[in-house]
Formats: sequence, structure tokens, C-alpha cells
Amino acid sequence: QNNEVILLDTLIFAHRGAAGTHPENTMASFEAALKAGADGIELDVQLTSDNVPVIIHDETVNRTTDGEGWIKDLTYEEISKLDAGTWFDSSFNKASIPTLDQVLDWVKPTRLLLNIELKNGVVRYSNLEKIILDLINKYEMKDRVIISSFNHYSLVEMHQLDPEVETAILFMEGIYEPWKYAKSIGAKGLHCFLPVAVPELLIGAAQAEMPVRPFTVNDDNHMENLIKAGCPAIITDWPEKAVHIRNKAAN
Ligand code: G3P
Ligand code: MG
Repeated sequence: QNNEVILLDTLIFAHRGAAGTHPENTMASFEAALKAGADGIELDVQLTSDNVPVIIHDETVNRTTDGEGWIKDLTYEEISKLDAGTWFDSSFNKASIPTLDQVLDWVKPTRLLLNIELKNGVVRYSNLEKIILDLINKYEMKDRVIISSFNHYSLVEMHQLDPEVETAILFMEGIYEPWKYAKSIGAKGLHCFLPVAVPELLIGAAQAEMPVRPFTVNDDNHMENLIKAGCPAIITDWPEKAVHIRNKAAN
């Protein structure tokens, strides 16, 4: 009998790309994450009025672009013209809102994993799950993608469309034994708010062989503790720092 515990390296997912140093959810941010040595990127997807999946966190373009309005009310043509970088820093004035198609095309030849967060809560985009699934299949990326959402009905819909696509529940609360609940809806991962990633959760999930990927882990001490605890992955705005702390922990 082999009781040896094998701790694998904590994977580093760059939250909205390298959002600490670059405008979130832009190609510049994703490219920086790759360069920083991240294992994957997390991004948020919403649908334009003409059903194009675009990468943006908020339901409106107000905070992160020079435009105004709800994404659901704007065409892709209108969205594509917006400046999605200047709000962060004027040196990023060429950044625009990417489509999921563009990101998949760029990710495909890299080694990056992709965590697509379906923003299907405030606005319930009809057919979002099917549209995203078709794109993933177009790029034959099913084995490198994790679909997450705070809307677990959306995750169930995705699972029903294709049980082979990996889904993960997003949650903010200290749910008791969330791996049992996740399993009951076909999900294979726990994407929890950092404060609820308590030892009981990390240990229980490890025993249930369900990966925990807390967000958003930006503080050095939190990174170090989770890496040393063998947490399967973290989601961070600062991938470069996380890679550095992981390298230090390995030596
Ligand atoms: O997917 C992890 C995290 O991105 C969830 O929250 O609001 O940053 O999309 P939010
Ligand atoms: Mg997100």
C-alpha cells in the first residue's frame, strides 16, 4: 500500500489576464500572463446584441472603455471600436474588447489553459452556453477549457449540452462540503472566494479529488500559504509574482 501524498505544483491562472499590470480582459493582458509564466488565464464572457461572445467583466462597457451602454444592447461592430485600455493607462490606448473567437485562436498554439467564466447572472443571455460550446469545439479546445459561473443553472445547461466539458462552480460563501454539491450538478472544480478556502475545504476537496481554485489571490502571504498547502490552483491578478513565489517555495 502506498500512502505517499504527492503534492503537485499549484497552477497559476491569470485573472482577467495579468490584470494587476495591464487592462483586464484585453489581449495585452493575456499576452502578459503568458510571458509571466502563467499556466492559464481566466476571462469573462458576455454576448453582444448580435450574439458575439466578447471578453469583458461588467455587463456594461462604462467602467473599462470610452463608451457607454449595456453589452446586450450594442452590436459587435459598435463594441469593436471602443478603447478598452486608456481607462487603465494611456499607453494602452490601442487595446480593444476581444472576442472569444480571437482569444481561442491566440491561445490554441500556446500551452495555456483557459478558464471561461460565463457572465450569465445579471443578464441571462439566451443560448450563451451553446454559442460558447460551439466555439470551443471549432478550435478543438475541449481538453484545455474550464467553464465556470456563479449561475449554476448555466453550468447545468452546459453539462447537459456536453458532459465532457469541464465545469466548475463559482461561489462566495462557506458552503459545507461543496464538492458533494458540485458533483451533484456534474461540476468538477471549486472556484471559491479566497476567504472561504479554509483548511477543512482544502483537505476535504483534496480527499474527494476535486480541485480548488480560489480567487482572487493577490497577497504574497496568501499565495505562499496556498502553494505550500498544495492547493491545486490559484486565480490571481499578479501571475508574475505568483510564479516567483511558487519557484521560491519549490527550493
Ligand atoms: O473566476 C473567478 C473570478 O473572476 C470571479 O469573479 O467578478 O472577478 O469575475 P469576478
Ligand atoms: Mg471572472
